[in-house]
Amino acid sequence: MHIKVLGSAAGGGFPQWNCNCRNCAAARAGTPGFRARTQSSLAVSRDGIDWALLNASPDLRQQINDNRELQPHLKAGLRHSPVKAAVLTNGDVDHIIGLINLREAQPFAIYASKRILDVLAANSVFQVLADPLVPRNEITLDQPFKLAGGGVDLGLTVEAFAVPGKVALYLEDKSSGDYGGREGDTIGLKISDPAEKKSFFYIPGCAAVDEELAARLKGAPVVFFDGTLFTDDEMIEQGLLNKTGARMGHISMSGDAGSITAFSKLGVGRLIYVHINNSNPALDENSPARKAIDGAGWEVGYDGMEVRL
Ligand code: MLT
Ligand code: MN
Ligand code: ZN
Repeated sequence: MHIKVLGSAAGGGFPQWNCNCRNCAAARAGTPGFRARTQSSLAVSRDGIDWALLNASPDLRQQINDNRELQPHLKAGLRHSPVKAAVLTNGDVDHIIGLINLREAQPFAIYASKRILDVLAANSVFQVLADPLVPRNEITLDQPFKLAGGGVDLGLTVEAFAVPGKVALYLEDKSSGDYGGREGDTIGLKISDPAEKKSFFYIPGCAAVDEELAARLKGAPVVFFDGTLFTDDEMIEQGLLNKTGARMGHISMSGDAGSITAFSKLGVGRLIYVHINNSNPALDENSPARKAIDGAGWEVGYDGMEVRL
C-alpha cells in the first residue's frame, strides 16, 4: 500500500493567509526549520496507479500539481485522473472544499457519513459533482466496505468508526450544549489492503482518546493522528483566537489528557501527526515542543511524506 501526505496542516494551512503569528511569519520569510504546509489530506493506493483521497482539501489543486501520482497518466487519453474516490472524515472546510476542484466531468466516487452527505446536499455548489458520474456513497459506521470509484476497484477496504469530536464550525448550534453535534460528525478510518494483510488508521480530527478508541488502536502498525495543537490554550496564549482546543474538538499533543500520553502505552508502530495548526510550536523544528514529540517517538507529518506498507 502507498500512502502519501498531500497536506499536513489544519484549516488555514501554514502559513495562514491572514496570520502574522511567530510561526506564520517565519514560514513566510523562509526561515530554516519552518516548512510550509497545505491543508489536511492524504492519498492512498494499493498499486500506486489508482488512488483515493482521504479528505479533499481546499489546496487540492496545488496538491495534485505537486504530486505526479495524482496527475493524468500520459497514455490514458485526453481526459484522465488517477483519483478514483474521496473519503471524508468530517465536514470541516479544510476537508470538503477540495471536491470542487474535481469537477470537469471526471468520474469518481464520494464516501461520507449521512451527516456529511447532508452538508454536501444542502450546499448547491456541490451539484457540479453530479450523480451518476460522481456517486455519493453513505458510509455506515463499523461496517467495512470496498473502496471503488471511476469504474475501478481500488482493492482496499475501509472501516469507519465514530471518534470523540465536534460538529463543523459553520454548523454550530450555539443554543445546544454540544453545539448540535450528531453521529457521523467526526469519524476515523481504518484502511486495509486485504490481499497483503496491511492496514493503517487515519484520524485527523479527534477530541479525546477514550477507552474504546485506545482499544481499537492498540498495536496498530501506523496511525495518522490529530496534531492540531500542542497545548490546549495555545491559540488564546498567542492572542490568535479565544478558543481552546477542547472547544474546537481537538485533543492536544501535550498534557495529561493529550495524545502523547494517551498513545504512550498503545504499542503503535508509527505515530504520525497531521492536521497541524499554524499556532503549534512543534512546527518549529528547533523548538522544545518538537524535541518533546521526537522524544516520545512521534513523527510530524509533512507535505509529500510517503509511507509504504
Ligand atoms: C477545525 O479543524 O477545527 C476546523 O478546520 C476549523 C476551521 O474550520 O477553521
Ligand atoms: Mn480542520
Ligand atoms: Zn499563524
